[in-house]
Amino acid sequence: MDHLALDLQNQGWHTSPTLVPRELCEELLAQLLFLRSQQALKKAQIGKGAQKQQNDDIRGDFICWLEPDSSTPAEQNFFFWLKNFLTEINRRLLLGLNEFEIHYAFYPPQTQYQKHIDVFQSSSRRKISFVLYLNKDWQPEHDGELILFDEKNSEQETQRITPEFGRLVLFLSDQIYHQVNFTKQERFSVTGWLKNEL
Ligand code: OGA
Ligand code: MN
Repeated sequence: MDHLALDLQNQGWHTSPTLVPRELCEELLAQLLFLRSQQALKKAQIGKGAQKQQNDDIRGDFICWLEPDSSTPAEQNFFFWLKNFLTEINRRLLLGLNEFEIHYAFYPPQTQYQKHIDVFQSSSRRKISFVLYLNKDWQPEHDGELILFDEKNSEQETQRITPEFGRLVLFLSDQIYHQVNFTKQERFSVTGWLKNEL
């Protein structure tokens, strides 16, 4: 955790292959696949409110939000894990995090998410973005990496992250530009934001 806090402070991002228990990842993947089989994943949109629009070129994923009230045991376990995690981060970074929003995400082959930043101009309660990847047997030739850009120079690529099973990446929502490269394989994840009070 100390290493994680230092990374966020010094470079604006951190990644770990083992922070989230593997069993929890398995449960979340099973739930994601179930939701997909029920057609519960919906085409993601960009922008907010009246600006909302659908644009496959910009963003090709399908999502389903996790609702605290209607959550399964797997999701409850993940909320529990996240609450502890949030407390640990607050202890070290004094960000006043007290809320999160989370969605499942599925990128079909030949989709991407172009370079963007995760905060809406109208509200900046999102402080830390996280993505937990759920792809078994991911191969380099599947592409679909997450690319992070430098927090001080958003033209400068700093890191390529492979969406392999169990890997967690965290970055500062209002500082780090990033993109999802075209994926050649189905690409699954749980994506969310740690937010602070109004
Ligand atoms: C997002 C996003 C990155 C990823 O959903 O805003 O940037 O690697 N996702 O899936
Ligand atoms: Mn993003």
